[in-house]
Amino acid sequence: MQLDNLSDLFQRGLEYAWDCEHLLVKEMPRMVDAAWSDDLKHALDVHLVETKSHIYRLKQVFTRLERAPAGEKSEPARIVLAECERMISHLDPSPLLDAALIFTGNQIAHYEMGLYGSLASFARVLGFETVANLLGENLAEEKTADQALSRLAERSVNRAAGGVHQTPPFALI
Ligand SMILES: [Fe+2]
Repeated sequence: MQLDNLSDLFQRGLEYAWDCEHLLVKEMPRMVDAAWSDDLKHALDVHLVETKSHIYRLKQVFTRLERAPAGEKSEPARIVLAECERMISHLDPSPLLDAALIFTGNQIAHYEMGLYGSLASFARVLGFETVANLLGENLAEEKTADQALSRLAERSVNRAAGGVHQTPPFALI
């Protein structure tokens, strides 16, 4: 897609968000299943439900703008989720796996916060106030999800993961 102006950049970012949220809806059930602790399963499950509403809001955004996603792919999300997939298949269920899942969740949440923060600002500049509000709602939920994961990591998971030694030794490469 050609990128000549802020409206084009806005469109590109919306497509990145659209692709990222769809990847998450596919990947997150696997993360929920893989999570070792009930607390993490619950946090991921809550965010899976929110992710579906993020897609719904993005649909509303495209409809209001009379636009459609044209297939731009979010490579950063693909890279992080592919690494998550490898960690799930290599690590035994344990606090170490939970730390890895939170590590992934935090990275994705920050990526999405970057997207929605910029997109809401672009929408306001371009005069789409209602669309900016919809994107702001997604942004707020990404922030809450990120904080919930970080709290879990800092309260218990990372400390417990520090005592885990995967057998046989796990190497990502
Ligand atoms: Fe999201």
